[in-house]
Amino acid sequence: MLIDTYGRVATDLRVSLTDRCNLRCTYCMPEEGLQWLAKPDLLTDDEIVRLIDIAVTSLGIEEVRFTGGEPLLRPGLVGIVERVAALEPRPQMSLTTNGIGLKRTATALKKAGLDRVNVSLDTLRPDVFKTLTRRDRLKDVLAGLEAAHDAGLTPVKINSVLMPGLNADEAPDLLAWAVAHDYELRFIEQMPLDAQHGWTRDGMVTAGDILASLHTRFDLTPERSDERGSAPAERWIVDGGPHRVGVIASVTRPFCGACDRTRLTADGQIRNCLFAREETDLRAALRSDAPDEEIARIWRLAMWGKKAGSGLDDPSFLQPDRPMSAIGG
Ligand code: 5AD
Ligand code: SF4
Repeated sequence: MLIDTYGRVATDLRVSLTDRCNLRCTYCMPEEGLQWLAKPDLLTDDEIVRLIDIAVTSLGIEEVRFTGGEPLLRPGLVGIVERVAALEPRPQMSLTTNGIGLKRTATALKKAGLDRVNVSLDTLRPDVFKTLTRRDRLKDVLAGLEAAHDAGLTPVKINSVLMPGLNADEAPDLLAWAVAHDYELRFIEQMPLDAQHGWTRDGMVTAGDILASLHTRFDLTPERSDERGSAPAERWIVDGGPHRVGVIASVTRPFCGACDRTRLTADGQIRNCLFAREETDLRAALRSDAPDEEIARIWRLAMWGKKAGSGLDDPSFLQPDRPMSAIGG
């Protein structure tokens, strides 16, 4: 098991497959993009599958989420999913994507064994989409969502980040649209993980703001807390159901005490927290022919040292060096 000194057990592995992206969301990346990882530094498909194999057979991982950057940009994605689906025990598999390219790949991914997708979409207004992501691709995202739903990658979840002065007023419109399309919408509070280090607490839309805005148009009933488990989203039943809306209050109501995640970056580093300032190098072990037991031992040790919380509220908080796109969401 991947247990830490606070007794938390990580069963959810997030694997970043690339740090590259075809969007430039302002809360994530600068306009010009970032210095991407060099190819030899990236784990190969074989290395990724081997690590996931070790994670499910020796470390108690039950769920694997592929992220990026944008994971659909990884050429070997379908093959990786297929090989992970053949592992024993077979983990649940999901993909966090911006949706561009999903129209083309949804059926193949489902066939390969992917269970679900989370698509990032912050606005339904083409002009705002273009300002927020610096690319004119809203149509591609909407087509990708539809394809994922049709392919049975369900429930299709949508992650939205609200930004003051851009899309902060769009929460009710997004929810009405998500309910009509049978997508499960979750709002995520903006976290200090942007490459430009432009985040400020005063400049973010809080869970409280989001709920107040939703209450103007919807009747929201809190879901029973025993249904939440370790899921970070607090959920509400919308207008009597069956649809729900989630709010992930990473900043104003952190859920670190229930965290069950371990993260693997595209260059083979284990991170025990999104906000960790230290990483543990598994790639070096892999490439020096370490046996599975040795890799499992290093991974356990990396998780054992996990801190109690994100430290966001400490005056001494320092943003991690890697931005979200290089960690994996
Ligand atoms: N704060 C909150 N969410 C973010 N995401 C990317 N950067 C941030 C940030 N700074 C979201 C993306 C995606 C998910 C993986 O994380 O929109 O939905
Ligand atoms: Fe790409 Fe996601 Fe970052 Fe937007 S938030 S630039 S979609 S990695």
